[in-house]
Amino acid sequence: MKTQIIKIDTLDNLTKNKDIIKAGEILKNGGVVAFPTETVYGLGGNATLDDAAVKIYKAKGRPSDNPLIVHIAKAEDAELYAVTNECYYSLAKAFMPGPLTVILPKKNTIPLSVTGGLDTVAIRCPSHPVANALIRAAGVPIAAPSANISGKPSPTTASDVIEDMDGKIDCIIDGGDCEIGLESTIVKLDGRDATLLRPGAVTPDALSFVCDNVFISPSVTEVLKENERVISPGMKYRHYSPDTPLVLLDGDDSEIISFMREKSAKTDCVLLLYSEYTTLFQDVKHINVGSSANLAEQASKLFHSLRLADKQNATIIYAFMPQKTGLGLALYNRLMRAATHTVIKL
Ligand code: TXA
Ligand code: MG
Repeated sequence: MKTQIIKIDTLDNLTKNKDIIKAGEILKNGGVVAFPTETVYGLGGNATLDDAAVKIYKAKGRPSDNPLIVHIAKAEDAELYAVTNECYYSLAKAFMPGPLTVILPKKNTIPLSVTGGLDTVAIRCPSHPVANALIRAAGVPIAAPSANISGKPSPTTASDVIEDMDGKIDCIIDGGDCEIGLESTIVKLDGRDATLLRPGAVTPDALSFVCDNVFISPSVTEVLKENERVISPGMKYRHYSPDTPLVLLDGDDSEIISFMREKSAKTDCVLLLYSEYTTLFQDVKHINVGSSANLAEQASKLFHSLRLADKQNATIIYAFMPQKTGLGLALYNRLMRAATHTVIKL
């Protein structure tokens, strides 16, 4: 299949942009289009059609029991596809459009193929202007997982998407780099209580300003045991992993640097380094993952750094273990999965 690549040069007048209108038509008619969001690139299809989900699953190589997030243009559109409640609207007021996904009971307008057979649906209203204009142009809700091949790090640049999806889908919209870099926060509601299923840029502290209680699902920080009940099915798969084994180092920065010095003298490794430390390792393969104090910068660089690290043909990748507070919880969750929970305690 020939994949059309559309570059968006200006965010002005997107609703009149001929390329966006054309991509909207492709989606409405059952085609698959990759598009930028503020979190990561999405692989979109018409969420009201059975067979769009089939095409998305095929392009990703994803098992079909893994449900897709349904993207809408404005928070109120959730009424058409889900049973909303008061807490949904409080969350929408605070965080939508933006990087938050809410799981709600589904209505019949969304086929079971999109929700992986579940009677709930994940609703998200992205803030990226291109994503918003595209959903409006399509005139239908857009089902979209991250636009990576299943198991690989999520794509945060158009080149990452082209690497994984060129030749497999109808169209890729290049809207530049994604600002946040980690997928949306996912919550499930029970009255005014929320359970966090996937951490993201909307942190537990931020959620607790709106919800009565915020519970953190054990799957966010722990390894799931065989046969354990999974509330968010996507969490059970190997995720975000580079092909080169990744190991996280848990200790003081000085201990981690000594360990990295020792290892890099003996092995062909790649180091994921905070910008403060790159000058210490000029002659060793390394990737600058941002300043240690700037979690937003680290988030925006994480997935692309993992992809870059994989291209260095090394035998192992070492990274600092992040703190679990604030946005750090999302970084911790993605890195732990990428490392398949391999941690060295120093
Ligand atoms: O930021 C994002 O959320 C990106 C962009 C493209 O919007 N999308 C994304 O989709 O990360 P995906 O498919 O890679 O991750 C969706 C996650 C999966 O872990 C899936 O299991 C969970 O959402 N999910 C979807 N529907 C669900 C449901 N009804 N109940 C529980 N979990 C659900
Ligand atoms: Mg994904």
